[in-house]
Amino acid sequence: AQIMRGNFTSFMQKEIYEQPESVVNTMRGRVNYEDHSVHLGGLVRDMTTIRRCRRLIFIACGTSYHSALAVRAFLEEMTEIPVSIELASDFMDRQTPIFRDDVCVFLSQSGETADTLNTLRYCKTRGALIVGITNTVGSTISRESDCGIHLNAGPEIGVASTKAYTSQIIALTMMSISMASDSVAKTGRREKVIKAMKEMPQLIEEVLKLDTQIEELSKQFATERSLLVMGRGYQYATCLEGALKIKELTYIHSEGILSGELKHGPLALIDEDMPVVMIVMNDSTLDKSHNALQQVHARGGRPIVICTPETEAGVKEFAYKTICIPSIVDCLQSILTVIPLQLMSYHIAVHKGLDVDCPRNLAKSVTVE
Ligand code: AGP
Repeated sequence: AQIMRGNFTSFMQKEIYEQPESVVNTMRGRVNYEDHSVHLGGLVRDMTTIRRCRRLIFIACGTSYHSALAVRAFLEEMTEIPVSIELASDFMDRQTPIFRDDVCVFLSQSGETADTLNTLRYCKTRGALIVGITNTVGSTISRESDCGIHLNAGPEIGVASTKAYTSQIIALTMMSISMASDSVAKTGRREKVIKAMKEMPQLIEEVLKLDTQIEELSKQFATERSLLVMGRGYQYATCLEGALKIKELTYIHSEGILSGELKHGPLALIDEDMPVVMIVMNDSTLDKSHNALQQVHARGGRPIVICTPETEAGVKEFAYKTICIPSIVDCLQSILTVIPLQLMSYHIAVHKGLDVDCPRNLAKSVTVE
């Protein structure tokens, strides 16, 4: 294991640091930066069916579920098809109705998660087209799917999913683009996103350079009992995913909160002692995110704010500290916002002397219901 980890102290740390390459591996041979097109060999045969479906249903657990939430708005924008995103266990509890003209997309790093696999079989018997997106060639989910996408992110050993998540976001973004490839109206948007995909590895490198700053900030959380992560729009998924990383690695209670819901309850949690991380990006939700920050500040909260050079000046007076990351096109920004939270949970866990690769009570593939 020592050799495989190289200079890193854990697989998780290695996998966080691999992300500039793993996202490129997911795009390799699929994204054409010259003519701004996407070619997904594993979906070609069924693309007409996928484009014509009546509903697109994404089904997954944990981090894989969050990846679909991160791309939901872009999927809706590109496809103009109703998109639902389901937790596999809940979907089965409800015995949700499924029809022949539904397309069901199963996301799973391992390709072996029992809840996801059971749901796949349930949807298959009802005649839906089954798309599998996994990181494991030959896994049960990839074998039982009608078509799909391999993430090609390389094996992920750490129980906490990191590089698979960012590659899932890339894969779903590619799928959205390829579903809309014949829409003339969306040409400009497609070009913009594909250009951003090319810049992605370099920008991930820049986020990783903040590691020492993030390590320093993380120390103070080691003794905390709770941590809230707030944001909205494209960043809601990052809040849920960041909170999941904090929980599973540091055993600190953590909650991802949609800041649009603040007034509907969570604001009551805020006082000068409640640790909060807020995400304020330069997108269509900027004014509202800013407003949420002021609300938290007005109740004594001094959040750490993940911002960009464009938003930093505006958030500074309300923030305890800022983590300033590069900006990229709105629908891919979540790849850059999640990395500081991956690093933060990693450093808190190390500081507490916990096992980051194998957190207590958890397994890498959950093969029981
Ligand atoms: C992620 O950090 C978790 N360990 C967990 O939520 C995981 O994403 C979930 O169990 C789904 O696994 P899969 O992607 O292999 O199906």
